[in-house]
Amino acid sequence: MKDINFDHIVTRLRAAGCVFAEDEARMLISAAGTPDELDAMVGRRAQGFPLEHVIGWAEFCGLRITVDPGVFIPRHRTEFLVRQAAEIAKSGAVVVDLCCGSGALGAALAATLERIELYAADIDPVAVRCARRNLAAAGGRVYEGDLFEALPATLLNSIDILLANVPYVPTESIELLSAEARVHEARIALDGGTDGLDVQRRVALAAPLWLAPGGHLLVEVSERQAPQAVEIFARSGLIPSVARFDELDATVIVGTKPAF
Ligand SMILES: C[S@@+](CC[C@H](N)C(=O)[O-])C[C@H]1O[C@@H](n2cnc3c(N)ncnc32)[C@H](O)[C@@H]1O
Repeated sequence: MKDINFDHIVTRLRAAGCVFAEDEARMLISAAGTPDELDAMVGRRAQGFPLEHVIGWAEFCGLRITVDPGVFIPRHRTEFLVRQAAEIAKSGAVVVDLCCGSGALGAALAATLERIELYAADIDPVAVRCARRNLAAAGGRVYEGDLFEALPATLLNSIDILLANVPYVPTESIELLSAEARVHEARIALDGGTDGLDVQRRVALAAPLWLAPGGHLLVEVSERQAPQAVEIFARSGLIPSVARFDELDATVIVGTKPAF
Protein backbone atom coordinates (compact mmCIF):
# COMPACT_ATOMS: atom_id res chain seq x y z
CA MET A 1 0.00 0.00 0.00
CA LYS A 2 1.29 3.44 -0.91
CA ASP A 3 0.93 6.71 0.99
CA ILE A 4 1.24 5.23 4.44
CA ASN A 5 2.67 7.35 7.19
CA PHE A 6 4.06 4.72 9.52
CA ASP A 7 5.19 7.24 12.12
CA HIS A 8 1.76 8.87 12.21
CA ILE A 9 0.11 5.50 12.84
CA VAL A 10 2.58 4.72 15.61
CA THR A 11 1.92 8.11 17.19
CA ARG A 12 -1.87 7.53 17.13
CA LEU A 13 -1.47 4.10 18.67
CA ARG A 14 0.98 5.29 21.29
CA ALA A 15 -1.27 8.18 22.26
CA ALA A 16 -4.05 5.64 22.80
CA GLY A 17 -1.83 3.69 25.19
CA CYS A 18 -0.67 0.84 22.93
CA VAL A 19 2.62 -0.34 24.42
CA PHE A 20 3.78 -2.20 21.32
CA ALA A 21 2.71 0.55 18.93
CA GLU A 22 5.33 -0.19 16.24
CA ASP A 23 4.59 -3.93 16.09
CA GLU A 24 0.87 -3.24 16.05
CA ALA A 25 1.26 -0.65 13.30
CA ARG A 26 3.00 -3.24 11.14
CA MET A 27 0.27 -5.80 11.78
CA LEU A 28 -2.49 -3.33 11.02
CA ILE A 29 -0.76 -2.27 7.79
CA SER A 30 -0.43 -5.85 6.61
CA ALA A 31 -4.06 -6.64 7.53
CA ALA A 32 -5.63 -3.63 5.81
CA GLY A 33 -6.58 -3.74 2.12
CA THR A 34 -6.74 0.00 1.47
CA PRO A 35 -5.58 3.23 3.16
CA ASP A 36 -9.20 3.96 4.19
CA GLU A 37 -9.52 0.53 5.74
CA LEU A 38 -6.22 1.03 7.53
CA ASP A 39 -7.38 4.37 8.89
CA ALA A 40 -10.58 2.77 10.22
CA MET A 41 -8.64 -0.11 11.77
CA VAL A 42 -6.18 2.21 13.50
CA GLY A 43 -9.19 4.17 14.76
CA ARG A 44 -10.83 1.06 16.22
CA ARG A 45 -7.59 0.00 17.87
CA ALA A 46 -7.12 3.51 19.31
CA GLN A 47 -10.67 3.28 20.72
CA GLY A 48 -9.61 0.20 22.68
CA PHE A 49 -10.80 -2.71 20.54
CA PRO A 50 -8.40 -5.68 20.98
CA LEU A 51 -5.84 -5.90 18.18
CA GLU A 52 -6.96 -9.45 17.39
CA HIS A 53 -10.56 -8.35 16.85
CA VAL A 54 -9.40 -5.48 14.64
CA ILE A 55 -7.17 -7.57 12.37
CA GLY A 56 -9.45 -10.62 12.63
CA TRP A 57 -7.01 -13.21 13.87
CA ALA A 58 -4.86 -14.32 16.82
CA GLU A 59 -1.66 -16.30 16.85
CA PHE A 60 -2.03 -19.53 18.87
CA CYS A 61 0.45 -22.42 18.90
CA GLY A 62 1.95 -20.98 15.71
CA LEU A 63 -1.42 -20.98 13.92
CA ARG A 64 -3.44 -18.06 12.64
CA ILE A 65 -6.83 -18.42 14.34
CA THR A 66 -9.75 -16.33 13.10
CA VAL A 67 -11.42 -14.37 15.93
CA ASP A 68 -14.60 -12.48 15.20
CA PRO A 69 -15.64 -9.49 17.33
CA GLY A 70 -16.91 -10.62 20.73
CA VAL A 71 -15.31 -14.06 20.53
CA PHE A 72 -12.83 -14.96 23.27
CA ILE A 73 -9.25 -14.38 22.11
CA PRO A 74 -7.21 -17.54 22.77
CA ARG A 75 -4.52 -16.84 25.38
CA HIS A 76 -0.91 -17.98 25.02
CA ARG A 77 -1.19 -19.48 28.50
CA THR A 78 -3.60 -22.06 27.11
CA GLU A 79 -0.94 -23.39 24.73
CA PHE A 80 0.26 -25.34 27.77
CA LEU A 81 -3.06 -27.19 27.96
CA VAL A 82 -2.71 -28.14 24.28
CA ARG A 83 0.83 -29.37 24.93
CA GLN A 84 -0.38 -31.52 27.81
CA ALA A 85 -3.10 -32.97 25.61
CA ALA A 86 -0.62 -33.65 22.79
CA GLU A 87 1.56 -35.62 25.21
CA ILE A 88 -1.23 -38.00 26.17
CA ALA A 89 -3.28 -38.21 22.97
CA LYS A 90 -2.73 -40.96 20.48
CA SER A 91 -3.14 -40.75 16.73
CA GLY A 92 -6.77 -41.49 15.80
CA ALA A 93 -8.06 -40.17 19.16
CA VAL A 94 -11.61 -38.91 19.51
CA VAL A 95 -11.15 -35.31 20.67
CA VAL A 96 -13.80 -32.86 21.86
CA ASP A 97 -13.09 -29.16 22.34
CA LEU A 98 -15.89 -28.17 24.73
CA CYS A 99 -16.56 -24.45 25.26
CA CYS A 100 -14.47 -24.11 22.13
CA GLY A 101 -14.77 -20.35 21.49
CA SER A 102 -12.82 -19.81 18.27
CA GLY A 103 -11.85 -23.51 18.24
CA ALA A 104 -8.20 -22.64 18.81
CA LEU A 105 -7.47 -25.61 21.08
CA GLY A 106 -8.93 -28.20 18.72
CA ALA A 107 -7.22 -26.61 15.73
CA ALA A 108 -3.86 -26.62 17.52
CA LEU A 109 -4.16 -30.23 18.67
CA ALA A 110 -5.19 -31.32 15.18
CA ALA A 111 -2.13 -29.55 13.79
CA THR A 112 0.11 -31.38 16.28
CA LEU A 113 -1.22 -34.92 16.02
CA GLU A 114 -1.24 -37.03 12.91
CA ARG A 115 -4.95 -37.73 12.77
CA ILE A 116 -7.75 -37.09 15.20
CA GLU A 117 -11.53 -37.25 15.06
CA LEU A 118 -12.42 -33.76 16.13
CA TYR A 119 -15.65 -32.33 17.58
CA ALA A 120 -16.25 -28.95 19.20
CA ALA A 121 -19.14 -27.13 20.85
CA ASP A 122 -20.00 -23.76 22.31
CA ILE A 123 -23.15 -22.04 23.55
CA ASP A 124 -22.42 -18.79 21.73
CA PRO A 125 -23.54 -18.83 18.07
CA VAL A 126 -20.92 -16.22 17.13
CA ALA A 127 -18.17 -18.46 18.53
CA VAL A 128 -19.65 -21.49 16.78
CA ARG A 129 -19.54 -19.75 13.40
CA CYS A 130 -15.93 -18.74 14.05
CA ALA A 131 -14.92 -22.25 15.18
CA ARG A 132 -16.50 -23.78 12.06
CA ARG A 133 -14.12 -21.72 9.95
CA ASN A 134 -11.08 -22.52 12.10
CA LEU A 135 -11.80 -26.26 12.27
CA ALA A 136 -12.87 -26.85 8.69
CA ALA A 137 -9.39 -27.82 7.52
CA ALA A 138 -9.13 -30.44 10.29
CA GLY A 139 -12.57 -31.84 9.43
CA GLY A 140 -13.90 -30.73 12.84
CA ARG A 141 -17.65 -30.84 13.47
CA VAL A 142 -18.89 -27.92 15.54
CA TYR A 143 -22.16 -27.92 17.51
CA GLU A 144 -24.06 -25.18 19.30
CA GLY A 145 -25.55 -25.63 22.75
CA ASP A 146 -25.08 -25.92 26.49
CA LEU A 147 -22.01 -28.04 27.33
CA PHE A 148 -22.54 -31.76 26.54
CA GLU A 149 -26.15 -31.22 25.41
CA ALA A 150 -24.73 -29.95 22.14
CA LEU A 151 -22.89 -33.19 21.36
CA PRO A 152 -24.24 -36.19 19.46
CA ALA A 153 -25.15 -39.10 21.75
CA THR A 154 -22.81 -41.33 19.72
CA LEU A 155 -19.95 -39.73 21.65
CA LEU A 156 -21.16 -41.08 25.00
CA ASN A 157 -18.46 -43.21 26.62
CA SER A 158 -16.09 -42.62 23.69
CA ILE A 159 -14.14 -39.35 24.07
CA ASP A 160 -10.40 -39.93 24.46
CA ILE A 161 -9.42 -36.30 25.00
CA LEU A 162 -11.85 -33.72 26.34
CA LEU A 163 -10.39 -30.22 26.14
CA ALA A 164 -12.43 -27.78 28.20
CA ASN A 165 -11.09 -24.30 28.66
CA VAL A 166 -14.31 -23.10 30.25
CA PRO A 167 -14.89 -19.66 31.82
CA TYR A 168 -13.15 -19.60 35.20
CA VAL A 169 -12.94 -15.99 36.35
CA PRO A 170 -14.76 -15.51 39.69
CA THR A 171 -17.67 -13.09 39.12
CA GLU A 172 -16.32 -10.45 41.45
CA SER A 173 -12.91 -10.47 39.69
CA ILE A 174 -14.39 -9.64 36.29
CA GLU A 175 -14.15 -5.94 37.03
CA LEU A 176 -10.38 -6.35 37.56
CA LEU A 177 -9.85 -7.66 34.02
CA SER A 178 -8.46 -5.39 31.31
CA ALA A 179 -11.06 -3.37 29.41
CA GLU A 180 -10.16 -5.37 26.30
CA ALA A 181 -11.51 -8.51 27.96
CA ARG A 182 -14.28 -6.92 30.06
CA VAL A 183 -15.76 -4.84 27.29
CA HIS A 184 -14.93 -6.72 24.12
CA GLU A 185 -15.22 -10.39 25.04
CA ALA A 186 -18.61 -11.92 25.81
CA ARG A 187 -19.38 -12.07 29.54
CA ILE A 188 -20.38 -15.73 29.15
CA ALA A 189 -16.83 -16.45 27.98
CA LEU A 190 -15.33 -15.14 31.23
CA ASP A 191 -17.70 -15.50 34.16
CA GLY A 192 -17.24 -18.72 36.11
CA GLY A 193 -19.59 -17.85 38.99
CA THR A 194 -18.81 -17.08 42.63
CA ASP A 195 -15.57 -19.08 42.90
CA GLY A 196 -14.98 -19.29 39.14
CA LEU A 197 -15.54 -23.05 39.10
CA ASP A 198 -19.28 -23.34 38.37
CA VAL A 199 -18.90 -24.45 34.74
CA GLN A 200 -16.03 -26.76 35.66
CA ARG A 201 -18.19 -28.51 38.25
CA ARG A 202 -20.82 -29.21 35.60
CA VAL A 203 -18.21 -30.43 33.11
CA ALA A 204 -16.47 -32.70 35.66
CA LEU A 205 -19.78 -34.14 36.86
CA ALA A 206 -20.86 -35.22 33.37
CA ALA A 207 -17.42 -36.05 31.96
CA PRO A 208 -17.32 -39.71 33.15
CA LEU A 209 -20.43 -40.39 31.05
CA TRP A 210 -18.76 -39.08 27.91
CA LEU A 211 -15.13 -40.13 28.36
CA ALA A 212 -13.93 -43.45 27.02
CA PRO A 213 -12.42 -45.74 29.69
CA GLY A 214 -8.95 -44.28 30.27
CA GLY A 215 -9.99 -41.00 28.59
CA HIS A 216 -8.82 -37.62 29.86
CA LEU A 217 -10.47 -34.30 30.72
CA LEU A 218 -8.16 -31.27 30.63
CA VAL A 219 -9.11 -27.91 32.09
CA GLU A 220 -7.23 -24.71 32.87
CA VAL A 221 -7.54 -22.98 36.24
CA SER A 222 -5.74 -20.27 38.16
CA GLU A 223 -3.03 -21.55 40.51
CA ARG A 224 -5.25 -20.62 43.47
CA GLN A 225 -8.19 -22.64 42.16
CA ALA A 226 -6.13 -25.81 41.62
CA PRO A 227 -6.72 -27.57 45.00
CA GLN A 228 -10.48 -27.05 44.72
CA ALA A 229 -10.53 -28.20 41.09
CA VAL A 230 -8.64 -31.36 42.09
CA GLU A 231 -11.32 -32.07 44.70
CA ILE A 232 -14.10 -31.51 42.16
CA PHE A 233 -12.45 -33.95 39.73
CA ALA A 234 -11.92 -36.59 42.42
CA ARG A 235 -15.53 -36.29 43.63
CA SER A 236 -16.67 -36.87 40.03
CA GLY A 237 -14.73 -40.14 39.88
CA LEU A 238 -11.82 -38.84 37.80
CA ILE A 239 -8.20 -39.43 38.81
CA PRO A 240 -6.78 -35.90 39.04
CA SER A 241 -3.28 -34.63 38.39
CA VAL A 242 -1.94 -31.10 38.20
CA ALA A 243 0.51 -29.74 35.64
CA ARG A 244 2.08 -26.34 36.10
CA PHE A 245 4.18 -24.15 33.79
CA ASP A 246 5.36 -21.01 35.60
CA GLU A 247 6.66 -19.28 32.50
CA LEU A 248 3.11 -18.92 31.16
CA ASP A 249 1.48 -18.87 34.63
CA ALA A 250 -0.48 -21.86 33.39
CA THR A 251 -2.13 -24.50 35.57
CA VAL A 252 -3.87 -27.47 34.00
CA ILE A 253 -5.87 -30.17 35.77
CA VAL A 254 -5.98 -33.50 34.00
CA GLY A 255 -8.71 -35.90 35.09
CA THR A 256 -8.48 -39.49 33.92
CA LYS A 257 -11.44 -41.84 33.84
CA PRO A 258 -10.38 -45.19 35.27
CA ALA A 259 -9.86 -47.74 32.51
CA PHE A 260 -11.98 -50.41 34.28
C1 LIG B 1 -12.73 -18.86 28.34
S1 LIG B 1 -13.57 -19.03 26.81
C2 LIG B 1 -12.50 -20.23 26.04
C3 LIG B 1 -12.67 -20.38 24.58
C4 LIG B 1 -11.64 -21.35 23.97
N1 LIG B 1 -11.72 -22.64 24.58
C5 LIG B 1 -10.24 -20.78 24.14
O1 LIG B 1 -9.53 -21.19 25.05
O2 LIG B 1 -9.87 -19.90 23.35
C6 LIG B 1 -14.97 -19.97 27.31
C7 LIG B 1 -15.97 -20.34 26.22
O3 LIG B 1 -17.01 -21.11 26.84
C8 LIG B 1 -18.24 -20.81 26.23
N2 LIG B 1 -19.30 -21.20 27.17
C9 LIG B 1 -19.64 -20.61 28.34
N3 LIG B 1 -20.63 -21.28 28.95
C10 LIG B 1 -20.94 -22.32 28.14
C11 LIG B 1 -21.88 -23.41 28.22
N4 LIG B 1 -22.72 -23.52 29.26
N5 LIG B 1 -21.91 -24.31 27.21
C12 LIG B 1 -21.06 -24.20 26.15
N6 LIG B 1 -20.15 -23.19 26.02
C13 LIG B 1 -20.08 -22.27 27.00
C14 LIG B 1 -18.16 -19.33 25.92
O4 LIG B 1 -19.08 -18.98 24.91
C15 LIG B 1 -16.68 -19.19 25.49
O5 LIG B 1 -16.54 -19.33 24.12
